[in-house]
Amino acid sequence: MSASPRPDVAVIGGSGFYTFLEDPQEIEVDTPYGKPSAPISVGTVEGRSVAFLPRHGAHHDFPAHKVPYRANLWALRSLGVRQVLAPCAVGGLQVEYGPGTFLVPDQLVDRTSGRQQTYYDTGAIHVSFSDPYCARLRGHLLNGLAGQGPVDGGTMVVVEGPRFSTRAESKWYADQGWSVINMTGHPEAVLARELALCYATVALVTDYDAGVDEASSVSMDAVFQVFAEHTDTLKKLLSGVVAGLGDDRDCSCSHALDGMNLPLTLP
Ligand code: ADE
Repeated sequence: MSASPRPDVAVIGGSGFYTFLEDPQEIEVDTPYGKPSAPISVGTVEGRSVAFLPRHGAHHDFPAHKVPYRANLWALRSLGVRQVLAPCAVGGLQVEYGPGTFLVPDQLVDRTSGRQQTYYDTGAIHVSFSDPYCARLRGHLLNGLAGQGPVDGGTMVVVEGPRFSTRAESKWYADQGWSVINMTGHPEAVLARELALCYATVALVTDYDAGVDEASSVSMDAVFQVFAEHTDTLKKLLSGVVAGLGDDRDCSCSHALDGMNLPLTLP
């Protein structure tokens, strides 16, 4: 089947997750915010048209603090995407979330600084972000991952990076009761909300962050290695989830901008 030019669903791949589709057609997209991390691949999954974008670029060109988040979400929406699944690598902040754990967060804490986190620099556009992830997509992810015993809910703290956290910082995050830590979850989630997209993430724990105990310390090699060990499983599971998604969006995400006087026209 040839790829439809109007995919409704997208997967944004994280560290070590650079391809997804079997029959991709690459589309170069430009946006008012520059180019996305890579050309967007459009292909089919079980007959459904799907877009794929490697968050860090095709060869991990963009570290987390340099990812063109605004361009990425805008480009996906301009191709027709309204539902985004965003896997990512995370560190565990609690002993029960060891490497290999899949967790579908329901909250996030922003500890980034200086990232452009809005499309709306004029006017009074304040989206609701109390529940940062689409509940409907979270449900699909949890069902799709059922065989892996996914953790349902938890708080992902997003740090600026590119360095990992000190033991004291990490212990402080853990003491707040937060579950996992990463560097890319923000502003991706809020930008999706600002474009009225459905968005949810599945976090794969690749390491124990430094505050979990005295022995734990993260290295990028470990993050990539553990992610690589689970990438095939993740891709297979995501294919099933994508294929099973409806397109009726009976959730609140599509109404995120209702009644607002937008200073720009969404693609
Ligand atoms: N991504 C994967 N593991 C991480 C960690 N421990 N801290 C921040 N980002 C991460």
